[in-house]
Amino acid sequence: MSRYLITSALPYINGVKHLGNLVGSMLPADAYARFHRARGREVLFVCATDEHGTPAELAAHEAGLPVAEYCAKMHTLQKGLGERFGLSFDSFGRSHSAQNHEITQHFYHQLDKNGFLEERVTRQVYSIDDGRFLPDRYVVGTCKYCGYEKARGDQCENCTRVLDPTDLINPHSAISGSTNIETRDSKHLFLKQSQMVGRLREWIDSKKDWPLLVTSIARKWLDEGLNDRSITRDLSWGIPVTYKGEVRPGFEGKVFYVWFDAPIEYIGATMEWADATENNWKRWWREDEGATDVRYVQVMGKDNVPFHTVGFPVTLFGSQEPWKVVDYIKGLNWMNYYGGKFSTSGNRGVFMDQALELLPADYWRWYLLANAPESDDSNFTWEHFQATVNHDLADVLGNFVNRIAKFCTTRFEGRIPEQGEYGALETETTAALDQRLATLTRYMEALEFRKSATELRSMWVIGNEYLQKAEPWMKIKLNPVAAGVSIRYALNLALAFAALAQPFIPETSAKISYALANTDSALTWPKTLTDRLSQLTPGAPITVPEVLFAKIKDTQVAEWAKRFGGVDP
Ligand code: 2FM
Ligand code: ZN
Repeated sequence: MSRYLITSALPYINGVKHLGNLVGSMLPADAYARFHRARGREVLFVCATDEHGTPAELAAHEAGLPVAEYCAKMHTLQKGLGERFGLSFDSFGRSHSAQNHEITQHFYHQLDKNGFLEERVTRQVYSIDDGRFLPDRYVVGTCKYCGYEKARGDQCENCTRVLDPTDLINPHSAISGSTNIETRDSKHLFLKQSQMVGRLREWIDSKKDWPLLVTSIARKWLDEGLNDRSITRDLSWGIPVTYKGEVRPGFEGKVFYVWFDAPIEYIGATMEWADATENNWKRWWREDEGATDVRYVQVMGKDNVPFHTVGFPVTLFGSQEPWKVVDYIKGLNWMNYYGGKFSTSGNRGVFMDQALELLPADYWRWYLLANAPESDDSNFTWEHFQATVNHDLADVLGNFVNRIAKFCTTRFEGRIPEQGEYGALETETTAALDQRLATLTRYMEALEFRKSATELRSMWVIGNEYLQKAEPWMKIKLNPVAAGVSIRYALNLALAFAALAQPFIPETSAKISYALANTDSALTWPKTLTDRLSQLTPGAPITVPEVLFAKIKDTQVAEWAKRFGGVDP
C-alpha cells in the first residue's frame, strides 16, 4: 500500500487534554504518520474536536458561555496546543462543521432508506425544574451495579459499565442538582445493530493481525448480544435530524447522538481539508473513487474500541455504499498518574498547556511514546520522567551529538573531516546498527512505539560505544586522520539517528539536521545505515547545535510533584 489514511480518536471539546489523552491516541497516531511520510508514502492524518453531546454542553454551561462560542474557542485552543506538540495533522476539523452536518445527514438518510432505522418511543428522564429532558451526562446518580454515587447517565466511571439514565438510583440533574424529576415518553431513532451481528463477526474474524486488546473487546460486545442503539437525543446542540433541510416529523428539537456523528467526522474532517485545499476527499474514502489502495489505520484508547468495531462499521456497512472501512485498529490502555487516573476535576496530572510551560514538546513526546500504555496500563511519575529524559535524551542522544559536533568544531575547523577511510570498527558498528534498524522498522510498521523507542535508544547507545572504542579524543594527537575518520562516521550516524528519531522528537531531529547538513531534507527513513555513511559531504561546514536536552534537576521534580499532586492516591 502506498497511501495511508490515519485517524486519531477525536478529543472531546470540553477543555485542554491531559498527557493521558495525548498518549492514548493523538501522539502515537502522529508518530505513525511521520514514520510513513519519512518513508515517502502519501499520508493523510486526520483528527478533529468532538464537539457535541453532554460533555460539550455541560462544559459550556460551567464556563458561562453559549455552547457554540465555547466550542469555537476551545477548538482554537486545542488546535494551537496540537501544533505546539508537533502533531502533524493534515486536518484538524470540527465535528460541528457544515461538512459533518452534510455527511452525517447523508448516512442517516442511507440507513433509513435501507431499513436500518426504526422509531421507538422510550422513557427518558425529564427535569421539571430545568424544564428539559436530561440525557446521558445531564443526569447523575448512584450506579445500580456498584453503588458509586457519582455515576453519570451514560456510564459509571467507577465500574465502567454503560448505563442508561433510567438505570440510576436517586437521579438528579447535573445542571441544577434538582431531584424533581420524572420519566416521560420521547420518540427516538434506533439503529438496528442486531441485524448486523453476523456480518460484524465475520469482519472481526478476518482481522487476524489485529491486537488482542481490540478483537477481544469487539467480540465481548458481539457475544453479549448487540442491542439496537438509539442514535438521537433530546438536546438542542448537535446535528439536527434532517435530510435536505427537512426535519423528520416528530424529531423537531432533537439531534443525533454524539457517538453517531463523531466517527463520521473522520470523513467530515477530510471534507473540511479538501474544501480548504482543493483536494479530493473521495479518493481517501470511497472505494469507487480510488480508495482501494488506501490502508486505513485508526488509533484510540480502549474505551473507544466498541464504537469503532461495532458502531461506526454498522453505519458504513448499513449505508450499502462503498466506503473505506478501517484496515487496522491500534488500541491503547491507560497511562495513569501515580497509579491513579489523570483527572481534570481532581486537578491530578499534567495538561498539555501546563506541560509546555515546563519543557519543550520533545521531552514529553519521547517519554510518552517510550512508555506508551500498549501491552498494559503504564504509569507516569515525575521521578520516572526525570530518569528517562536525563538518561535517554541528555546522556545518550544529546551527549553523542553535542560531543562530536563540538570536537569537529575545535579540531577540524567545523568541517566534515575529509581524510581516511572507514575500517573494521566502522563495518562492525554499521552491521550491529543495521540489525537494529530492521527491527525498529518492523516495530514502527506494527505501531509498537514502546518497543521502537527501545530499539532506537539501543542504536544511540551503540553510537556512544563506538566513540568509546574509536577514542578520537585520544587519537587526535598521534593519528589525526584516524580521529577524523571516527568523527566523520559519527556525524553521519548522528544525522541518521535524527532521521530515525523524527517520529518521536521532530523538533530535535530538525535541529540536528540543520546543524550538520544545513537542511531538514535529510530526515527520510533509511533502508539501511550503510546507505547513510557518506551522506555528509567531506569538507562541508557544520555548526554545533545548542545543548539539545537539559537535565531535569531534583529540585524541579520536587516542585512539579507538589504543584501537580504527585503523590500516591
Ligand atoms: O472518548 C473520547 O474522547 C471521544 N471524544 C472519542 C471520539 S472518537 C471518534 F469516534 F470520534
Ligand atoms: Zn458502577
